[in-house]
Amino acid sequence: MDHLPLFARLHGQPCLVVGGGNVAARKARALLRAGGKVALRAPRFTAAVRSLATEPGVELKPGHFVAGDVVGFTLVIAATDDDEVNRSVAQAARAQHKLCNVVDDGDASSFIMPAIVDRSPLLIAIASGGHAPVLARRIKTVLERQLPARLGDIARLLGRFRGAARERFPDLKRRRYFWERLLDSNALAAVANGTGGDDDGDAIVAKALENPEAAPEGIAYLVGAGPGDPELLTLKAQRLLADADVVLYDRLVNPALLDHARRDAEFVDVGKRAAGPTTPQTAINALLVKHVSAGKRVVRLKGGDPFIFGRGGEELRALEDAGLPVKVVPGITAAQGCAAAVGLPLTERGVATAVTLATAHGAADAAPELDWDALCAPQQTVVFYMGVGTLPAIRRNLLQRLPATTAIVIVERGTTPEQRVHRTDLAGLDALIRKKTVAAPALVFVSTATGSPAGKANVA
Ligand SMILES: C[S@@+](CC[C@H](N)C(=O)[O-])C[C@H]1O[C@@H](n2cnc3c(N)ncnc32)[C@H](O)[C@@H]1O
Repeated sequence: MDHLPLFARLHGQPCLVVGGGNVAARKARALLRAGGKVALRAPRFTAAVRSLATEPGVELKPGHFVAGDVVGFTLVIAATDDDEVNRSVAQAARAQHKLCNVVDDGDASSFIMPAIVDRSPLLIAIASGGHAPVLARRIKTVLERQLPARLGDIARLLGRFRGAARERFPDLKRRRYFWERLLDSNALAAVANGTGGDDDGDAIVAKALENPEAAPEGIAYLVGAGPGDPELLTLKAQRLLADADVVLYDRLVNPALLDHARRDAEFVDVGKRAAGPTTPQTAINALLVKHVSAGKRVVRLKGGDPFIFGRGGEELRALEDAGLPVKVVPGITAAQGCAAAVGLPLTERGVATAVTLATAHGAADAAPELDWDALCAPQQTVVFYMGVGTLPAIRRNLLQRLPATTAIVIVERGTTPEQRVHRTDLAGLDALIRKKTVAAPALVFVSTATGSPAGKANVA
């Protein structure tokens, strides 16, 4: 081992950063985050450093470095772009027995600055001893992605109960078993993954201390999988998939996403198809209740966002009615994904001041039950989901209220390699309908901005 990893307590400690550029600012910021008081020494300072100087605990010391500058400081960092200056800083620090880091010069440094994953009070430091800083940063990125943002809350929560656990389990082995079982529990994972407050966590630990042998509780996560591009999955969704015992997934979910789950997880296709085999919603609700009741960690992976035309509300209620824990993880809805994919702002200053997501689900000739007058109000973008079959009704209702030149954009399989875009207007929509050119899944974007004072349609 070339270095001994240590975590230094810098609260209120005077630290010197020699340098006035952006690297110096970055180092100073790291020291400030750890509670240090920072003086920066350089003949000139960049705007980044000057703006840092407005923060409490920062002092700028204009002028060239001289050896005596290190006196009175606990720790010194040399962050200039002049090797000679950096070396003289290291020499002065060594002479005064100060800890010193020279940026990008491991040999001249008595300590190195690791890459940090900060889930305070939990800290992970990664260092390559100066051999491969890019590799260290890679590892940091992987850990950042995998570790819940609220892990620090969990560490604090466990800290609050250390005394109580010691009292309850005086035997160290028994106590360790208790903590390990708690850390593996779905209930605690839900706190780490969720948005609940400290009270949730406290109640969970208190309950576990009371009844440590209680059977493990299952949990369901209703997770949005996004519109199709596997990279539009959220970090939280990825983590939950990797942890799931059971994955119930929809037809619209990109199969590539299932690779995030464990191979030994149970996969259940509960896809609902407009034609062909279908799993009724009641059966999906029952499956969710069954697996969660059996103590399983269940991910219900749904296309787009679970709460936008995804029947997520029904699944949430079914689980809540059964008294089972459930959390919802949002996803990028098709309207956002498709709009971004074709460069179509859903709102635009002075052009589209509102956006409406509407379901056009229904029989081909029947007008979907919508408030068409409201949808045709000026200066808005309307996005119809599930509207391929009802295009004739959409066109008819819109034409009764909007000019035939109203711009229409239809996006099929948006964000996927099979994406197709049809740009037309209300008059031209007729030809698309007659030729049956549009295939599901698709979204119909309509801008009512035509004829607005801005005189411009944002979907054109
Ligand atoms: C049952 S809804 C589910 C919506 C989903 N929960 C969401 O937030 O996007 C299915 C409809 O979403 C739309 N849709 C979903 N993914 C799409 C995609 N990649 N491209 C275009 N439309 C899509 C289509 O209108 C499809 O008929």
